[in-house]
Amino acid sequence: MTDRRSVPARAVKPRRVKFAYPRGALRRHYVEGDLVMSHVVAVLSATFPPGEEFFVRSVRHYADRVTDPELAAQVRGFIGQEIVHGREHDRLNAELARMGYPTRLIDRMTDRSLKFAERTLPPRVRLGYTAALEHYTATIAERLLSDDGARALLGDTEVRSVLLWHALEESEHKAVAFDVFRETGGSERVRVRTMRVISALLLAHIAFGTVLSLCTDRAALNPLRLGASLARLRHSPFLAREVITKLRAYNRRGFHPDDVDAAELLDRWRAELFGPAGTLTANLR
Ligand SMILES: [Fe+2]
Ligand SMILES: [Fe+2]
Repeated sequence: MTDRRSVPARAVKPRRVKFAYPRGALRRHYVEGDLVMSHVVAVLSATFPPGEEFFVRSVRHYADRVTDPELAAQVRGFIGQEIVHGREHDRLNAELARMGYPTRLIDRMTDRSLKFAERTLPPRVRLGYTAALEHYTATIAERLLSDDGARALLGDTEVRSVLLWHALEESEHKAVAFDVFRETGGSERVRVRTMRVISALLLAHIAFGTVLSLCTDRAALNPLRLGASLARLRHSPFLAREVITKLRAYNRRGFHPDDVDAAELLDRWRAELFGPAGTLTANLR
């Protein structure tokens, strides 16, 4: 193994955090009382544990081919962070299930689809999917951290805390799967192709999961409420043109996740959440 460095130093360290959900802490529609967004966030939360396990397996497959010691350290940090994300989203999903959301069903369906992908697709394609999905999580995460309107949607519950912590770490490790893909010989052609395919699959997954989840909620039977919530979705800060442009930038030849410099944003949120007076410092174990 040659000792060559091609990846810049990045702070990718897992934080051992824990969140709690006392009975009745969350309202049924915990995303600022919004019907559809509450279901969308539940679908995403249910998707994270099996999804992140898939990411970890996809990256780990290539770990011993990573020759850069800095990237090797970041891979360990990435795996640690994703494992804690999965564990904490499992806890949130159990609470959402108690509230009536079909998080167990969505988790199981996602896990089965990803295991099927593992049996049928080459490791390079799985790593391409992982790098592409990490671009989605990082783009949405940076939107959440940088846009007051996006954060206002989350109200003041424990869900907000979980998502802010998760967003911070998604941005911290946003280049790891990408760099592993590139450093181990992944081509631009496969990178862009896997992004195109996984974008369609992700959209279908979220749409299907949300419809399924809404079908279990009596509030969705009220056409006025459902209509108003769908209308609000069209103006969601997460679907703004700027977000779509950033997502599409991945398809450009020569793209790198560091093209969007998040260093200042990360410094601010590290202090805000986990600094000496951080709002989540007490959640660290
Ligand atoms: Fe994650
Ligand atoms: Fe991630």
